[in-house]
Order: sequence, then C-alpha cells, then structure tokens
Amino acid sequence: MGSYASHHLVIAIDGPAASGKSSVARQLARQLGFIYVNSGAIYRAITWHLLQNKILPDQSERINEALNSAALTCDVRDDEARIVVNDIDPAGHLRDDRVNESVSRVSKLPRVREIVSRRLHDCAEGRDVVIEGRDIGSVVFPDTPYKFYIDASPEVRLQRRAAQGERDEITIRDRDDVSRAVSPLVKAKDAHLIDTSHVTVQQVVTEIMTRLEQLGLPISDVRITNRALGE
Ligand code: CDP
Repeated sequence: MGSYASHHLVIAIDGPAASGKSSVARQLARQLGFIYVNSGAIYRAITWHLLQNKILPDQSERINEALNSAALTCDVRDDEARIVVNDIDPAGHLRDDRVNESVSRVSKLPRVREIVSRRLHDCAEGRDVVIEGRDIGSVVFPDTPYKFYIDASPEVRLQRRAAQGERDEITIRDRDDVSRAVSPLVKAKDAHLIDTSHVTVQQVVTEIMTRLEQLGLPISDVRITNRALGE
C-alpha cells in the first residue's frame, strides 16, 4: 500500500446548481475507485421526508422534532453512498418538483446542516470519498487539501437544467444558497476553480487528476489500492 493509505482521503467538489458537479464527481470517483457521495441528496432526502409528513420549510420547530425522531443512515451500495430515512430509500423522489422548490429553505437551518455534516463524516469513515456539495471544502472537511470549485456561466447552467427536463428554479436556489447565514455557498480560499462552461466532463476530470498529482497524490497507487480493496 502507498503511504497515502494510512489515512482516508476526501476530495471536495463544490459549486452552484447545474455546474456539472455530479457528473464530474461521479466519474472522478469511478476513475479513482473512491466512493461517490452526493451531499445534496441528503438535504433532498430530508426535505422529502419532511414534505411527506406535511411539514413546511418554515416550520423549524416541527422540523427539529421530526429530525429527532427520524433514523437517517448512510449506506454504501454500488460504490455510492445512499441515504435511508426510517428504512426507506427515497432515491426516486429526490428530484421531484416539490423537493427542488423547498430544499434550499430546509438546508439553511442550522440543525439540518449539523445532521447532514455528521452523516457525511459517517460516510467518509474508513473510506476514500469524492463528496460533492456547497460547503464540503469550506466547512464540512476544511482540512482536506483536495478542494475543487466547479462553476459555469448562468446561461449554460440554465440550459443544462432545462435539458434535464426538470422544473428547477436554480437562480432562486443559488441566491438562497449564497446568502444564507450558516455555511453559505462560497469558494474555499484554497479550492482550485474550474469553469466547465465549454469543456467536457472528461476534460474536467483530467484537470482534477492533474491537479491532484501536483498536490502530491500518487494517482496510480490510489487506483491500484482501491481496486484491490474492491475485489
Ligand atoms: O444537483 P443540484 O446542484 O441541483 O443540487 P444539489 O447538489 O442536489 O443540492 C440541492 C440543495 O441542497 C442546494 O440547492 C442547497 O440548498 C443544498 N445543499 C447544501 O446546502 N449544502 C450542500 N453541501 C449540498 C446541498
């Protein structure tokens, strides 16, 4: 095993809605043999659970109560972390219109952020992970040296989301995410910025790999070790 394996690695991929984070993070994780973790999916799973229980994003006390009694666990399946709420996997509902509409208002609540942050640390325990989100490099894993901030022009991001056929007011979500008091969307000072407006997913992944090597991460050792662990 290479010396990197003495502790587990976190690669943080942050950025606004429809910037290309998910495709990049998933492909990067696959190429490195890391586990892919989508932190937005945890905020979405919580939002879905609240809406199922007819709790609205502005009912913060009811939200706290509901969260105290919900069992939220992070399972790893097919090299991806999945969140399960009271033994139900809400994966099929995470991009419902009503979840798109409410998720930023739920995710600004400090209690919600604290719970998600704890789950992300559980997911990263004992494994190498690529985690995408809004505050992974700035707040949740500030000590990781591997931070990337993925952006694209507002026009390109709107086009990408429209092409996915979703009703998603990303301009409103961006505004809420950037302006909230607790862990707003921000580029960590030491994050490497990549504009994905005019490049392919693979080009972005290659740029990240190059940067990781410059930071001293032995990419081929990492791949070999993780492949062996996965066999
Ligand atoms: O995929 P998309 O970029 O549209 O969003 P997402 O990553 O699924 O995140 C959905 C929402 O969750 C965001 O708009 C944020 O309000 C919130 N979020 C957050 O606050 N912090 C994170 N680390 C990840 C998501």
